[in-house]
Parts: sequence; C-alpha cells; structure tokens
Amino acid sequence: MYRTKTCGELRLADAGTTVTLAGWVQRTRKMGGMTFADIRDRYGITQLVFNTEIDADLCERANHLGREYVIQVEGRVNERESKNPNMPTGDIEIIVSRLTVLNASTLPPFTIEDNTDGGDDLRMKYRYLDLRRGAVRRNIELRHKMTMEVRRYLDSKGFLEIETPMLIGSTPEGARDFVVPSRMNPGQFYALPQSPQTLKQLLMVAGMDRYFQIVKCFRDEDLRADRQPEFTQIDCEMSFVTQEDIISTFEGMAKHLFKELRGIELKEDFPRMTWADAMRLYGSDKPDTRFGMEFVELMDVLKGTGEFSVFNEAAYIGGICAKGQAVYTRKQLDQLTEFVKRPQIGAKGLVYARVQEDGSVKSSVDKFYSPEVLGKLKEAMGAEAGDLILILSGADAMKTRKQLCELRLEMGAQMGLRDKNKFSLLWVVDFPMFEWSDEEQRLMATHHPFTHPKDEDIPLLDSDPAAVRADAYDMVCNGVEVGGGSIRIHDPKLQAKMFEILGFTPEKAQQQFGFLMNAFKYGAPPHGGLAYGLDRWVSLFAGLDSIRDCIAFPKNNSGRDVMLDAPSTIDDKQLDELNLTIRKSSEE
Ligand code: AMO
Ligand code: AMP
Repeated sequence: MYRTKTCGELRLADAGTTVTLAGWVQRTRKMGGMTFADIRDRYGITQLVFNTEIDADLCERANHLGREYVIQVEGRVNERESKNPNMPTGDIEIIVSRLTVLNASTLPPFTIEDNTDGGDDLRMKYRYLDLRRGAVRRNIELRHKMTMEVRRYLDSKGFLEIETPMLIGSTPEGARDFVVPSRMNPGQFYALPQSPQTLKQLLMVAGMDRYFQIVKCFRDEDLRADRQPEFTQIDCEMSFVTQEDIISTFEGMAKHLFKELRGIELKEDFPRMTWADAMRLYGSDKPDTRFGMEFVELMDVLKGTGEFSVFNEAAYIGGICAKGQAVYTRKQLDQLTEFVKRPQIGAKGLVYARVQEDGSVKSSVDKFYSPEVLGKLKEAMGAEAGDLILILSGADAMKTRKQLCELRLEMGAQMGLRDKNKFSLLWVVDFPMFEWSDEEQRLMATHHPFTHPKDEDIPLLDSDPAAVRADAYDMVCNGVEVGGGSIRIHDPKLQAKMFEILGFTPEKAQQQFGFLMNAFKYGAPPHGGLAYGLDRWVSLFAGLDSIRDCIAFPKNNSGRDVMLDAPSTIDDKQLDELNLTIRKSSEE
C-alpha cells in the first residue's frame, strides 16, 4: 500500500496514530534543528516534520528534497504547537520516521500554490502542473459535481443519455465548421458538430421522447473569455412539449444545481423578459439584471428641443442614471468618454449631466438647452440630487443601444454592482426569428433554421419576415447566456418554407438537410429542447473570469493548445493519404 491516508484528511482526533502518506513536496523550510515540508495531493496539504535530534540522517535527506518531488512518508500524527486555522489539517503535523523518494522533479517553471507567480501562457504550457494548484483543481472538481448532479436530475425526469457521432455533416448554428478530411472518401470532409441539433431531433422522430447528452461542440468563431472553440453543452430534447414544459423542466434543473452546488434555494419563478424589452431597456439579449440602471429613451426630451446638432440628427438618444455618482470628477468623466469611444465600442462621444444638491442640472450641453429642458431630462430619468446622468446618441438605434449597454456594464462594475456572489436569473423569450446579415446580405436564423415561429406570426412569414418572432428562449444569469433553445418545426412544409426564406434553393436544402426533411415525413412528434453551456455554468458558480479556468486542457485566444502545440502541420505522407495539397501563399 502506498498510503494509508490522504494529505487532506488528518485531524486532531488522529493524533498518536501512525500513518503513511504519499504526494508532492510543495515546499520545505529549515528552522534550527528541524526541517518542515508540506506534502500535497488532490485532497489537501499536510505538514511534515523532520527532527535532527530524532534522526539526523533522515533530516539531512529531507533538506535535499526539491519542489514537486514525489515522496512517501511514514510517521506519527502529532498535535501542532502553533496551529494553522486556515488549513483543514492545520491542527496536526507528521513526525516523520521513514522517507522514500518515489520520483525526483525538475524545478517547476512557476510556484504551485494558489497564488502562483506563473503567467497565463506558462500556466497553459504546463497545464498538468497548473492543475496541481488547489485553485484550478477545485474548478475541475466542481465541474465533476455539476455533471453528476445534471445526470441525477435528468435521470429522475426520465431522460435517456444518448451519444451522437462527432464525425457528421455541417450543422448550422451560425459559426464556421471545423472539418475533418476523409481518407476513404477522397476529397470529402466530415464536419465536427457545432451542436447535436439535427441528431437530437432525429432521436425525437425515433421515439426516444426525452434525450440528453453532455457533449463536446465545436465552433470555429472568434474567441472571448466565455467562448472556446470546443466547449461542452448539456444538450436536451423533449417530445410532446410546449415552451412552458421546457422552461419549467430546465428552470427546475437550474434550481437543483444552485441548491446542490451553491446551497442557494431559488424559490421564485425566474422572471421572463421579451427580447424586445431586453434590447429596449438594456441594449442586450443577455442583460445583467443584478442591478437596475435601465435605459430611458430621450428622443422626445432632447431631439429638436435645443441647438445641439448631435442630438437633433440622432435616430436614438438614450440615457442611464447612475445613482449618487454626481461626485464623478471631470477626469473620471473624460475616462468614461474615452471608454465609449474605444474602437470596440465605437461611440462618437458622451454627454453627461449632474444633478446638483439644489436639484438643478449641470451638464456638458448646458449651452444648448434651456433649464426647462434640463429639468425635463432630470424628470424623465427619475434622477435626484447627487445623481449622474449619462447619455449616448446615434444614427442607428440598435448600435447605439449596444454602446449604451457597454457603458451601463462599466458603470455597474465601477459602482460595485456586479457582485460575483449575487445571482440574477431570467428567461429572455420571443426572440426574432431572423436577423439581417450585412455580411451575407440575407436574412439569417437568429437561433437556428429548425426553430418554430410563433403561431400568431406565421402569417407574416411572407409579408414581413423580419417581424416574425420565434418560440425561442435563452436563460441568462448575471449577463451571461447560460443556455438557449426553442420549439422546433415538425411540419416538413413549414421547414421547407423556412429554408426558402433563408435563401436555400430547394436543391441545396435537400442536399444539406434532406435527411431531416425526409425523416419528418414519417411522423415527427411536436418537440423542442434546450442546451446549457456547461463551461459557463461552472465558471459562474466558481466566480471565474474566463471559462478556460474550468476546462482541464483549454485553448488560448488564438485557438491554440500551447501544451500540445496544436494545431500543427502534418507530414507529406499524411497529406498524400488524405488526397490533400497545401496551397502555398505568395510570400512563400
Ligand atoms: P446555442 O448556440 O445557443 O444553442 O448554444 C447553447 C449554449 O452553449 C453555450 N455556448 C458556448 N459556450 C462556450 N463556448 C462557446 N463557443 C459557446 N457557444 C455556445 C452557451 C449557449 O447558451 N442547438 C442549440 C440548442 C437548442 O436549440 O436546443 C444550440 O447549440 O451557454
Ligand atoms: P463634438 O460635436 O463631436 O465635439 O461633440 C460635442 C459633445 O457631444 C462632446 O462632449 C461629445 O462627447 C458629445 N457627443 C458627440 N457625439 C455624441 C453621441 N453620439 N452621443 C452622445 N454624446 C456625443
């Protein structure tokens, strides 16, 4: 037996017993005739003591232990003189009587402690060392617990876990596909699933009734803190259900996870907000509702009521009221202006107004507006003495709302309103069926092409498709889209119509989705579903800034695995077998 106990479990009650531990040396320190070493494994850290007076040889050997050496020790559990209340094992130490070095270690490139000195790149390159750190390991443990709870909940509701293939054809979720060349079918490619969307629908046609899968999805899109090129969905589908059934099932799952993993009982139903309201009040389809500061539209108040040409020419003017922030200095306001003018946000400028102690308004556009108009502004904003009003305008209402959304989030952060330990959940419902793509110059499916339009909007499919709303819903928590889904089309004629509106010729639709439309001819049940983003859920529960920290081996922002050095070139023989040639760029 390598060990009788783990490095995390010994307590005062174990004092006097003899134990064997195995693990990694976190660090050693020499104090007088004693040498102390911390031994670490997945379960915790235990202090080891080597005493020259008891065994000088042993102590000498302990002095030569390097960081991350793998050792085995036998010794007696002893009550510590100076206890460490910050460590679960802080009441005891092991007086070591036998030491075996199981393996030496090269000096690691960064310290393997919760507060490491390792930068991001180094940590990713040596991720197997990074994972030894408690701070990262705990996220992986939480992820495991979450998948266990998901399985427990869904099993209790009669869902079957079914695997679907990874080598498939294209699934249109709006991103680019990762493709895999087929050796046996020269010139042909598989696509890795962006999600198992069409396959889970086929499982409903197959009568599986309730399906789930904790599944890898692949999307070749621009990466951000909450996006990885491969990520994990908790993917679900149900037959003979309405939107209400799905919402209640998965709201139930969210409540179950909060209770089991965070000890938080969410009793109330999650609020619902239409997509139109979310855009109007927050400029986002995933509003952070931990705080208010909703938008107030100011067209009536500020357009044409003064000499300020910026507002007089605007298609949208909107403001937010930052409570108690009239104390913002000129410098802070200039910084906010610079913030909204950053290219990623793209506003042209920022107007501000402070409500003074006497109730009067002092703004950056005083010379253009009468005190009456500024009084109306204060009233429209519901502002009081001490408040700060921030206003953006623009020629495109949607773009300006998105800019105002960034400003609102920044103010929320500056005012400390985005507390990681507070959770604000809601459903965003009634998404538009289509959105216009400037790039493609055509309507695209907002969710995906299999989403059912709202029954009452079906007549608009021909006359005004842009106005059609869908039976589609997202779950949002703290400004993060943690899941999304829809009721699906199960009528082959309606599905064909959808492809037509999306610009597919009947031939192209047949070629790409013939398998689905064909299956629908054989009695497709009404069905719908949803997929949760597992990585985002874990990050939210763990209070992480990036989903990378809850993924064992993540990619960096350029989509690279710096540990494996992937992607990489392949050799000519492999290319030959796959019938591929690499086009050389002109520089080469
Ligand atoms: P959707 O595209 O909304 O829906 O994805 C579902 C959820 O997956 C998560 N997610 C991501 N997480 C990390 N990195 C990414 N690149 C990434 N992309 C998406 C989000 C999102 O809410 N087939 C549909 C679901 C359905 O209709 O049932 C789908 O994939 O949390
Ligand atoms: P300018 O006319 O660009 O010098 O801007 C005059 C003032 O209006 C400056 O304080 C700008 O920050 C502000 N401003 C300019 N464009 C906008 C806009 N689109 N929305 C809000 N304020 C703006």
